[in-house]
Order: sequence, then C-alpha cells, then structure tokens
Amino acid sequence: MATNVLLFLLLTLLSIATSTPTNFIKSSCSTTSYPTLCVESLSAYATTIQQDPHQLVQTALSLSLNKTQSTKGFVTKCKKFKGLKPREYAALHDCVEEITDSVDRLSRSLKELKLCKINGQDFNWHISNVQTWVSSSMTDASTCSDGFGGKALDGRMKTSIRSRMVNLAQVTSNALSLINQYGTNH
Ligand SMILES: *[C@@H]1O[C@H](CO)[C@@H](O)[C@H](O)[C@H]1NC(C)=O
Repeated sequence: MATNVLLFLLLTLLSIATSTPTNFIKSSCSTTSYPTLCVESLSAYATTIQQDPHQLVQTALSLSLNKTQSTKGFVTKCKKFKGLKPREYAALHDCVEEITDSVDRLSRSLKELKLCKINGQDFNWHISNVQTWVSSSMTDASTCSDGFGGKALDGRMKTSIRSRMVNLAQVTSNALSLINQYGTNH
C-alpha cells in the first residue's frame, strides 16, 4: 500500500516536472496560426527547448527545414513517375526548383539565427534577414501549389502535392510567427 502511494506521488511529481516546458511551448504557440500543430511538433523537443526562446525558434526553424527537405525528396520522386501528363511534369519541374530555393533560404536562415545569439549588437539586422527568407520560403510553397491550378491538372498528383504544400506552409508559418515573437520580445 505504502509503495503504491509513493509511486503515485512520484508519478505526479514527474508529470509536473515534464509539463513545465510544455506550458512554455503552449503559450508561445498560442499566437501562431496553427497552435495545435505547433504544440504537437515542438513538444517532442521540450527537454531541449526548456524555457529558452532562442532554442524554441531554432527548433521550429529546424523542423521547417527538415520538412522542406523531405518535401523536396517527395516532389523529386513524383517528377520521375512514368505516365505523367506533360503539364504535370512541367508543374513538378517548377516545384522542385521552388522547393530547392526554399531549402537554401531556410538553411541560410538557420545559420543567420545563430548570429542573433552571438552578435547581440546586430540582432535586429540578423533577425530581419531571417524573417525575409522564411517568409519567401512560405511563398515558394504556395507558388508550387499555384502551379497546379486549373482543371487540366486535376487528379491524384495535384491532390497529393497540394496537401503536402499546405502542411509545409503551416509548419513554416508557425516558425515565422515564433521568429516574429522572438524579434519583438528581444
Ligand atoms: C533536422 O534534421 C537534422 C539532420 O538530420 C537533425 O540533426 C535535426 O535534429 C533535425 N531537427 C529536428 C528539429 O528534428
């Protein structure tokens, strides 16, 4: 009996200890456009993030970069499918270019973000570069989607690419919100 009570107390204490970073993540995510997605994707990194706004933003940006890289892999694979309509092929070709640009912009952003921490004096300059590049990267995803506009491209490929782009744009939009928040509160 006594062991059960101890175990219960221990578990309660553990859950209190682990929910603290999650509250920080929750409150930071609450101002983003997709708070549920934000909390879900960042909670796995709660122990790394702790209550550190820089670490939070770095993780969100890294998630966005990784998602963009895997999306690039997916779109590149789609482009190699046999039996694509010429217009599908053309749209996918443009998408690969746009998402490649996105990967470049987000890798550069991640490096630039690190400078925000090292060089306090130039914080505003570095953070505004990050904001510009991450925002362009969101445009890349919607440009890819727009390339599939028009009824002629209706079909499984369009549906599949568009849903990937929506998800990618949401992850990147959340990262941008957190970056803006970090910039404002600095
Ligand atoms: C993104 O991918 C890199 C390289 O695979 C990995 O080291 C990093 O932890 C990933 N970022 C997140 C937030 O999972």
